[in-house]
Amino acid sequence: MKQPNIYIFDTPADAAKAIAQLILNRVSEKQNLSYAFNLAISGGKTPETLFGILANDFAEKIPWHQLRLFWVDERCVPPTHPESNFGMTNETLLKKVDLPRKNIFRMKGEAAPEEEAIRYQSVLTKELPSKNGIPVFNLILLGMGNDGHTASIFPKDMDLIDNHLSVAVTRHPDTGQKRITLTGPVLKQAEEIIFFITGAQKASILKEMLLNEPSAKKYPAFHISSAAEKTSFYLDKEASALLPKEIQSAI
Ligand code: 6PG
Repeated sequence: MKQPNIYIFDTPADAAKAIAQLILNRVSEKQNLSYAFNLAISGGKTPETLFGILANDFAEKIPWHQLRLFWVDERCVPPTHPESNFGMTNETLLKKVDLPRKNIFRMKGEAAPEEEAIRYQSVLTKELPSKNGIPVFNLILLGMGNDGHTASIFPKDMDLIDNHLSVAVTRHPDTGQKRITLTGPVLKQAEEIIFFITGAQKASILKEMLLNEPSAKKYPAFHISSAAEKTSFYLDKEASALLPKEIQSAI
């Protein structure tokens, strides 16, 4: 298992500020090299804090024209639907910053899922550099569900951890809602992964994963974090409550 960095903050907002600063640093590094910075983001609740801080405190700092934005997963609903990951990002971030529309590569939740998975696969192949035929992101922002899922790879979808396709269709195990998701090989191939995880309900799974307990093997998030080249966990106090103090990395 590649040892991840583990950063613990008092609040979700403190963790989000540190992630926003990291994004600014990484994009600026690429700007100096006049390369685009390819970032893939997750949905759910936790990233809303980060997107709010990027919009309010980093709108004038980040060279947005250098950033190209992709999605890790999407719910198969229209962009105006309250559960749309694009919709949430648009409201909390995209409407408030100068990210050029041509740099936004959203997954079309309103389209036929299987067709959209194929379309998005071709977008990644066209727009991103690749290694061993697998698209390479500069940074992927991931979360983790209370069942240990990440992106929309649920514990029932372990076949997607080592799948030949980069984009697949899954279903939420409780709601049956169809999802479009990046698969394991793309996630694991990213130059850098950040897990942004907050809240007490995630603490026990995080302990299993970060202490490399055998039970962690049933969690998709574990198979990504333990395989990716460079992984960092940005946690709040609640999510890290069951972790031994000495596990924390210096920021
Ligand atoms: C999604 C996400 C998913 C999310 C986890 C955690 O579309 O739901 O991409 O993987 O990161 O479900 O969600 P919360 O941040 O809401 O706890």
